[in-house]
Amino acid sequence: MTTDHPLALGARRDAALDRACEIIRKAWYEFDHPRPTESPDSESLAQLFKQGLPTSGIDAVTAMDIVAELMDTSVAQSRPRYLAFIGASGLEVGVLADMLVATYDVNMAVDGRAASRMEEQAVRWLGEYLGYPADGGSFTSGGQVSNLTALAAARERKFPGSRRTGVAGLRPTVYVSAEAHVSVRRAVELLGIGSDAIRTIALDSKRRMNADALDEHVRNDLAAGFTPMAVVATGGTTLTGAVDPLNSIADIAAEHGLWMHVDGAYGLAAAGLARTQEMFAGLDRADSVSIDAHKWLFVPKACSALLVRDHVPLVRTFSHNEAYMPHEGGALNPVDSTLEYSRPMRSLKLWLAFLVYGADRLHEAVERHLDIAQILYEAAAADPEFTVLPHAPQLSITPLQHVLPDCPDVDAHNMALTFAMQKDGRLFLSPAQIDSHTFLRPCFVNYRSDKSDALAVLDLARELGRSICPTH
Ligand SMILES: Cc1ncc(COP(=O)(O)O)c(C=O)c1O
Repeated sequence: MTTDHPLALGARRDAALDRACEIIRKAWYEFDHPRPTESPDSESLAQLFKQGLPTSGIDAVTAMDIVAELMDTSVAQSRPRYLAFIGASGLEVGVLADMLVATYDVNMAVDGRAASRMEEQAVRWLGEYLGYPADGGSFTSGGQVSNLTALAAARERKFPGSRRTGVAGLRPTVYVSAEAHVSVRRAVELLGIGSDAIRTIALDSKRRMNADALDEHVRNDLAAGFTPMAVVATGGTTLTGAVDPLNSIADIAAEHGLWMHVDGAYGLAAAGLARTQEMFAGLDRADSVSIDAHKWLFVPKACSALLVRDHVPLVRTFSHNEAYMPHEGGALNPVDSTLEYSRPMRSLKLWLAFLVYGADRLHEAVERHLDIAQILYEAAAADPEFTVLPHAPQLSITPLQHVLPDCPDVDAHNMALTFAMQKDGRLFLSPAQIDSHTFLRPCFVNYRSDKSDALAVLDLARELGRSICPTH
């Protein structure tokens, strides 16, 4: 490329790269500690966001400075007291991997030589990490796409040829717990099965799928002429971290020929630990499992993976012959067994995390979160100003309510409190509705969060909760 190319950075290239590295370095050191307040919104950025498309550009280093301000005034999940939803952490080696991935920009739709061998190994390593006998799988853009991919394979296995013919008249049914993630419903809708086909199975006392109720539903559906197609167990629900009884579900799936998928987008990261062996028993019997490494394996978004016990259904679902996508020597392309076409090398960040830390240190990081969630649960349970669920966290979510006698509408108070906390900025929480009651829902998946960050939830809830209660 000539230096007078319209897109050449020319003499500013090194300076722009140095500035980007400086921004990252500063952020990493800042993320080591919670910050006392959030930066206020930037007036100059607000003005910039109102402008139309520039016809001529600006200096790349100046642009980097603008981006630094943009990042500083955004909600960054990498900060240690970001405890909302199921966050992410921006693991540093993952960030480095992403920089390199973007730089080389290998397309994983087709064979990328070493990149493809690395991705195959990442699938194998992930299987080993989880204790799941993966015959294959692929990296996807998120739990939503992993669930969609699994159910597409389930549909094709149950109804061979349905990728062409559709499922009209076949009356498939899909089983999920009442607290399964909405991505399953959306996947069933997109696959043309229709969400009326979803059977929502009641929960047991620990908010897990009730396996007896599942069995009964499947039998009733068979008797009524439906074709039970798949059961999606959740390995860590989004709301409370409940892990469905996988072994019992696997028994029912095997008896009735259902595809069993485990949506472990959040919780599966804890599956390989000695202390969770009983909780995840039966995982190895699932036809497919999914996990978001951008959740509890700490790497930056987006890095989900779908692993399968048998690779063939994926190939039957997605393989194709197109004039622009030849099969060299008859070999399949990676895109023949997954949904997305142009696909970045998402796996590198996880592969690098495995390489740099090894499974033991990653397990240790996950285990710390199990401890933190428990510590917070016990501290809240012992404090008269808080209530907790009747059962301790199974994974790393600790829903709790701030309760003041002067504030009798506990739900309204906790909703107002979460928003007061978000506005305050010292800690970022999201609210959750559990049995129609509003809870604060701290979730620990950020490797930068420690016990003091967890206990800060109680201190801040007490401080802000008292200040917003009008009669306190
Ligand atoms: C259990 C579960 N499944 C699926 C998803 C969707 O994942 P993603 O946001 O990566 O698409 C989530 C997101 O939180 C989840 O918790």
